Amino acid sequence: MAELAVNVDHVATLRQARGIHYPEPVAVAIAAETAGADAIVVHLREDRRHIQERDVRLLRQVVQSRLILEMAATSEMLGIALDIKPDCVTLVPEKREELTTEGGLDLITHQDAIREAVNTLKNAHIKVCIFIDPDIDQIKVAHTIDADMIEIHTGAFCDATTQGQKQKELIRIVNAAKIGTKLKLGVNAGHGIDYNTIKAFTGLSEINEFSIGHSIIGRSILTGIDQAVRDMKQLIKEL
Ligand code: PXP
Repeated sequence: MAELAVNVDHVATLRQARGIHYPEPVAVAIAAETAGADAIVVHLREDRRHIQERDVRLLRQVVQSRLILEMAATSEMLGIALDIKPDCVTLVPEKREELTTEGGLDLITHQDAIREAVNTLKNAHIKVCIFIDPDIDQIKVAHTIDADMIEIHTGAFCDATTQGQKQKELIRIVNAAKIGTKLKLGVNAGHGIDYNTIKAFTGLSEINEFSIGHSIIGRSILTGIDQAVRDMKQLIKEL
């Protein structure tokens, strides 16, 4: 069964909207773990629009499963990662003006810088995952630069509005997952996955972990975080 990494960024989004001290992403992370989350994910962005450095430090102390830090491969973020030592870093591209991460890292263009970041993190015994589009050439570079894992960007599939588009994007994900596995990379998937789109991954046993945030935190407003995590775990179990 694939694992579920729960991203709690949007608890912090709500907190930052008022600039006050609640809701507390750390408390939600603990509740998500209690409900069966296999890992907790946060994205510390350069503009600190949701998660703050303080959140990552506290999470490092209390998370008992695995703490995954999403970040850009900048020297500032590398310094923070080496200091806090999450279990895994997922390298993502970052643009200030984007609403959320809009695409995978372009490893072909940024190969040297990313290779250096991968080395730095691995030397500190932090596992490294690279968030990339389901593109065979990109996956080959991820293998060449010695990443431990890839996270396949599922956004284009989840956002597709026609059946034809959906099918095309799903085939890209399936092929990417198979090539990644063949190259002995760990294969994760994430972005835009909700309680319906998750069902499309039925039978795709190459995917080790799904990284899901917005849909789970959104549902938790109605059901509570415990039920929201349990419902997603059940759907993953049925894949
Ligand atoms: N994976 C990565 C690399 C992301 O940047 C995000 C969004 O922060 C997610 C997964 C989770 O996406 P969503 O919130 O749409 O589930």
